[in-house]
Amino acid sequence: MSSINSLILEKRLFEPSEKFKNQANINAQTYAALCEEARDDYEGYWSRLAKIFLEWKKPFSQTLDKSNAPFYKWFADGEINASYNCIDRHIDQNGDKTAIIFESDDGKVTSISYRTLLSKVSQFANSLKSAGLKTGDRVIIYLPMSIEAVVAMQACARLGLIHSVVFGGFSAKSLQERIHDATAKMIITSDGQMRGGKALPLKPAVDEALKLGGCESVSKVVVYKRTSLQTEMNSIDVWWDDFIEGQSDTCEPVWVNSEHPLFLLYTSGSTGTPKGVQHSTGGYLLQVALSMLWTFDIKDSDIFWCTADVGWITGHSYVAYGPLAVGATQVIFEGIPTYPDAGRFWDMIERHQVSIFYTAPTAIRSLIKLGADLPNKYDLSSLRLLGSVGEPINPEAWMWFYETVGKCLCPIVDTWWQTETGAHMLTPIPGATSLKPGSCCKAFPGIQLAIVDEAGNQLKNGEGGVLVIQKPWPSMIRTIWNNPQRYQSGYFPPDYQGAYLAGDGAVKDEDGYFWIMGRIDDVLNVSGHRLGTMEIESALVANKLVAEAAVVGKPHEIKGESVVAFVVLKQALPDLSDAIGNETAKKVINELRDWVGKEIGPIAKPDEIRLCENLPKTRSGKIMRRLLRSIARGEEITADISTLDNPHIIQQLSQVIK
Ligand code: WT7
Repeated sequence: MSSINSLILEKRLFEPSEKFKNQANINAQTYAALCEEARDDYEGYWSRLAKIFLEWKKPFSQTLDKSNAPFYKWFADGEINASYNCIDRHIDQNGDKTAIIFESDDGKVTSISYRTLLSKVSQFANSLKSAGLKTGDRVIIYLPMSIEAVVAMQACARLGLIHSVVFGGFSAKSLQERIHDATAKMIITSDGQMRGGKALPLKPAVDEALKLGGCESVSKVVVYKRTSLQTEMNSIDVWWDDFIEGQSDTCEPVWVNSEHPLFLLYTSGSTGTPKGVQHSTGGYLLQVALSMLWTFDIKDSDIFWCTADVGWITGHSYVAYGPLAVGATQVIFEGIPTYPDAGRFWDMIERHQVSIFYTAPTAIRSLIKLGADLPNKYDLSSLRLLGSVGEPINPEAWMWFYETVGKCLCPIVDTWWQTETGAHMLTPIPGATSLKPGSCCKAFPGIQLAIVDEAGNQLKNGEGGVLVIQKPWPSMIRTIWNNPQRYQSGYFPPDYQGAYLAGDGAVKDEDGYFWIMGRIDDVLNVSGHRLGTMEIESALVANKLVAEAAVVGKPHEIKGESVVAFVVLKQALPDLSDAIGNETAKKVINELRDWVGKEIGPIAKPDEIRLCENLPKTRSGKIMRRLLRSIARGEEITADISTLDNPHIIQQLSQVIK
């Protein structure tokens, strides 16, 4: 609470400039009118927008079906196709407009028009059809940032195939779990990826995943050739170029029901297994398009750049679908912000004349550290709007972004949302909202958010509580794949009066601005990536050396949060006061870190592992996580340890091996 108290003392207010207001898609008057319309006629509001901003094959007659709440349906009897809405409908007017400016790791630029994108997507879709895939089948996409990744996603959407993109940083084991849960028929991958001048293999992880078993549903693996790495090809593998060989470049879209699942995206929760968040077609597309227009104020002339990987929801909503849904031109970048040097982002903004730049606080903080003055060496005058997503942005980083990158001319949209919400829920609308550094400001027009206590009662401004979304919205999660029960109990627990429980703590200040305090569940946010503590714990205990493990988060200057694991070994604890014992401990710790990297992915590797004889437990056997959090942070212990079964271990838990 103390950090949030200091945050909401933040009094600086940045009003939109006259220049920005005058050209904005949404100004203060239209913003107020939209909010009022949504309040007075909620369904009428969404219905009107869905008719204006999407093209339907068959119009819907019912806007919201609540009969099986919380399994809501939006525009259910409407028929639509996501790929048609993202590509075909722009062809007549804008076929030659650049859809994607792709820059590779080594700086090679490839631009493609909407017309070329349509041919590529159609050709790939025809290949998928020839391979026997049918509407509703699941396809795993495990690709680096590339035009091909977008083509693969859009081609699936064109046929009503349900894609599930797995981030390239996830391990073979994580990939296997997702293939198995989705019973995917196909995997689309690449031989490797280029990052920071190096070729890193990707396809071997697919081979390993398939060997782990439980993936018998997979009958084909399509491999895009990106690097010069040697790649072993098995009987079910086919190179991308051979796969599309001879296929026509026109393909009728398959019109699906608005509720037809567009994709699954696995994310972490508070159990040991990730959950397959299922999104719909029509509702999802409506809100990604609207947020492009309203949050990002997108215009025909803009060059939009969202730095997120397509493996995350941000890369779905604001790379693969949103920018295309509104016919925008976007930059897609294969590499990393620090290669060939820490000026890469600024250099790319200058060269591609980027006007809207959307990135994560962790990237901003690391770039400040690597060169706070670097942006001044580049001409960033093309920028007119900046955005932040993934975790709370601290006011210092916000100010640097505002002053040094945006030259005090660009509003910053700090957007709060989640894999489950599909699109922005809390965000400034840049031509209408005055900004406060560190606050996501207010609800996106139409979204009903509140801060409540544990009984679901609305709290007063200034009182910290739990963030809920009170009414269903079009781009919301529909269910958890294979686990509707977990959807219902996790997001709509009985105490919250039918509201969606976001899992974040938050507070509203006296002006009604929202300040996010972070997760209230056992979920960590490391560099804007969601990690479940239970997932890391189950990975650790799966190692033969480990008897028990508890994982907590600790604030980190760059990453926002870092992972700290307390581990009880099966063998006796090495004597840490002894040089040999200390060496043994270090070896074990390194082995366990690598193990977690293999089980989940390098992003989940604990920064710190502390070995101990025992975990602090209550007499009833519950691990005292709050105590572990304080110990990890080196805070004074204020928790009541009188119920602790084994108080003497606190000393041991505080020992860090360097
Ligand atoms: C969690 C969702 C939404 C895309 C990236 C992450 C945190 C997200 C913000 C923000 C403060 C934020 C929340 C949320 N979060 N954006 N602007 N300010 N916190 O998606 O992996 O589904 O994680 O990220 O804690 O619940 P995700």
